[in-house]
Amino acid sequence: MGTFDGKVIFITGAAHGQGRATALAFAKEGAAVAAFDVAKKIEYPAYEFGTSDELKSLKAEIEAMGGKCLIASGDVRSDADVTAAVQATIDSFGKIDILFNNAGICAYAEIDTMTDEAWNAMIDINLKGPMNVTRRVVPYMKKAKSGVIINNSSVMGLRGGNRLSHYAASKWGLTGLTKSWAIELAPFGIRVVSIHPTGVNTPMNDGLAAMEGMTPQEIAERSAGNLQPVPWVEPEDTANMVLFLASDNARYCTGGQYLLDAGLLTV
Ligand SMILES: NC(=O)c1ccc[n+]([C@@H]2O[C@H](COP(=O)([O-])OP(=O)(O)OC[C@H]3O[C@@H](n4cnc5c(N)ncnc54)[C@H](O)[C@@H]3O)[C@@H](O)[C@H]2O)c1
Repeated sequence: MGTFDGKVIFITGAAHGQGRATALAFAKEGAAVAAFDVAKKIEYPAYEFGTSDELKSLKAEIEAMGGKCLIASGDVRSDADVTAAVQATIDSFGKIDILFNNAGICAYAEIDTMTDEAWNAMIDINLKGPMNVTRRVVPYMKKAKSGVIINNSSVMGLRGGNRLSHYAASKWGLTGLTKSWAIELAPFGIRVVSIHPTGVNTPMNDGLAAMEGMTPQEIAERSAGNLQPVPWVEPEDTANMVLFLASDNARYCTGGQYLLDAGLLTV
């Protein structure tokens, strides 16, 4: 028996990193997983995105443990891609109980050399992306009179960051969406929360390190400055927090911002 037997989770950015770890954690607890990812290199930023091979290996891993997984390639910026993936999930699994808005990008940019490309990609993927997905999933949650939406923001959704103004703006925006959707959707039995990790040991962190000519540990330590003596947290730590917030143990948690910050925002 798993905690999420019979439940369906839709995860964006599921090919690798925190999305993949969360997909595996939910599958282990019995949930059917719809794994959505752009699964190809896109124009910005210049680091590795998920791949279709990673999506396929995720599906194989989940099926090998006796679980169900639907994979879908698409861009959270595209309403057509998102609509098709949500429809495919409904066709396969009949419902969506949990939405993890996780897909996102990060890059450094100074304000006096900020390009339209950098600004637009950051806001479109990190802020409009979750809106695109949520507006297509919510009608099914409303019909079911239940649902949980978990948005992967960042500590940068609660503070500023050096050369990270476009990233911080997108993540503060996601915090605002979280609070507003929680208010709007509470009458329909839908909870909405955001999580706020410090640096996480994922391909994103590796990509940022390569672009800055630093080691992954150095980039995490520079960006964060955790109270606990760790450079980063692991993708499985994110998965554990999402498992709790999506569960009935968190039934009265809505509208809140949940820190996974190794104490960073304490000081
Ligand atoms: N890694 C960190 O240090 C860190 C810290 C705090 C918050 N976050 C946030 O956590 C989330 C997940 O980050 P991660 O560390 O796993 O990153 P990652 O780059 O390792 O993985 C992100 C996944 O999202 C996918 N993706 C990117 N753009 C997409 C798009 N337009 N449409 C669909 N899929 C897309 C990628 O292909 C990739 O598989 C992001 O929103 C990120 O901003 C990351």
